[in-house]
Amino acid sequence: MTSAIEILWKQALKTFDGRRNVGFKLCQKNFDKLWNLMNKITADDVNLNKQVLDFIQIQAAPMCVIDIFENKDLTISIFILKHGVTMPMHDHPGMHGFLKVISGAVQLNSYTLNTSDDHIIKLNKEIAAFRHRPIYVHNSSPACILTPREKNLHEISCIEGPAAFLDILSPPYDVDDCGKGPRPCTFFKAISSKLCTDLPDVIEEVKLLVFEGLPDFNSASLKYTGPPLM
Ligand SMILES: [Fe+2]
Repeated sequence: MTSAIEILWKQALKTFDGRRNVGFKLCQKNFDKLWNLMNKITADDVNLNKQVLDFIQIQAAPMCVIDIFENKDLTISIFILKHGVTMPMHDHPGMHGFLKVISGAVQLNSYTLNTSDDHIIKLNKEIAAFRHRPIYVHNSSPACILTPREKNLHEISCIEGPAAFLDILSPPYDVDDCGKGPRPCTFFKAISSKLCTDLPDVIEEVKLLVFEGLPDFNSASLKYTGPPLM
């Protein structure tokens, strides 16, 4: 029998085939189908068991990452945060993403850049953004969606840990060993905020600055032990 993760993987391949190419057109029907499959994925489907979760709490890193699949168009991974840990605010330039909590619970703070340009980030330049209402996400919650424009930045706090979420990103981050490339992951900090009541789902207008250097946050890698993808 085909496993749930294999069915999800095949739908992700179909949805994002050729995503790296200029002029790629996203098929909404495929995207919605992928979201529906994502909503049904459980910790059992990827063999994320108690033994792994117990190990996360005793090892040193605040976060562990299990890579399941990567090609030029998409990545599928599991991120597991220790209890009380916050993954710092970061972006996903030009990318679509799904985040499905499969164990524990997180608070998700999402931000949408308030710029007319498409995601142009400069060092030392203040960036205007909207902060959305924080959401509490657990294993019965539907998968959260980010797009190249909407909710493209987020910070994730583990409030019932360890908390694990399955992540699909398309196209993947793309950098060389020095962290330079067309799709880097940039970290941010909020330097000011003011209340915003004009827009639904938005609570604040904020000014962000690029975090210089790397925040004090690292991760360890774990091997995927769930059902094979083919
Ligand atoms: Fe992220």
